[in-house]
Amino acid sequence: MRVDFHSHILPGMDDGAKNSEMSLAMLEKEKEDGVDTVVLTPHYYMHNESVKTFLKRREHCLKRLREAAEKSGADIPKLVTAAEVSFTPSLINADVSKLCILDTDYLLLELPFKPFSTSLVNSVANFVNAVQVKVILAHIERYYPVAGMAGIQNMLSLDVLAQVNCGAMRSAIGKSAAIKLIERGQAQVIGSDCHNTVIRKPNMSFGTKQIEKKLGKKALERIDSASEMILSNADIDEIFSKQLW
Ligand SMILES: [Fe+2]
Repeated sequence: MRVDFHSHILPGMDDGAKNSEMSLAMLEKEKEDGVDTVVLTPHYYMHNESVKTFLKRREHCLKRLREAAEKSGADIPKLVTAAEVSFTPSLINADVSKLCILDTDYLLLELPFKPFSTSLVNSVANFVNAVQVKVILAHIERYYPVAGMAGIQNMLSLDVLAQVNCGAMRSAIGKSAAIKLIERGQAQVIGSDCHNTVIRKPNMSFGTKQIEKKLGKKALERIDSASEMILSNADIDEIFSKQLW
């Protein structure tokens, strides 16, 4: 099952799709790219709004999108609600379980764009240990320039999964980091992190072609299997013990 685990497609929800027309165009491109399920992950910033307000806004935007899709008759992938939750140490006090991917315990967590200091790693570790959710770190390869591969390895030594952005494959540095992490099984799933139809458009097919070229079909099969297991809420240990990597 091909899943885009990271997208900003809900109309008017965040800095992603501006209106339903753009959302539908993005979803049609996802379908063309062979994506079966799109996980909708609008940004959630704890300092900006409560979980309750965010969920209300998300529900409204999803309703708009579903109505537009029905009206247009467009053939679109399955939609699954979630959030890209920005990490801050006080997140430990928020009811993050409501921000998980649909009815799973998986949360897409965005780390600050800065070096992975011991204090940041400890702070994320505290969060991971304290909350009743399973964490997927968003676009882990993006931190390579600021955290280095050693920093990324420290962060990934926690009990977490990680997602890679297909757009990373556009630069030599991003591609090298992303491919390494996928090859080692340290990044298990992928996403487009698409925001619009212009400069940050859906690019799952571009990403999967690059992965296949570098690592072969087997790598994509592993990603698809891990994706399916996450959506059925399998344990992190179970995903690793299946020896997908
Ligand atoms: Fe994002």
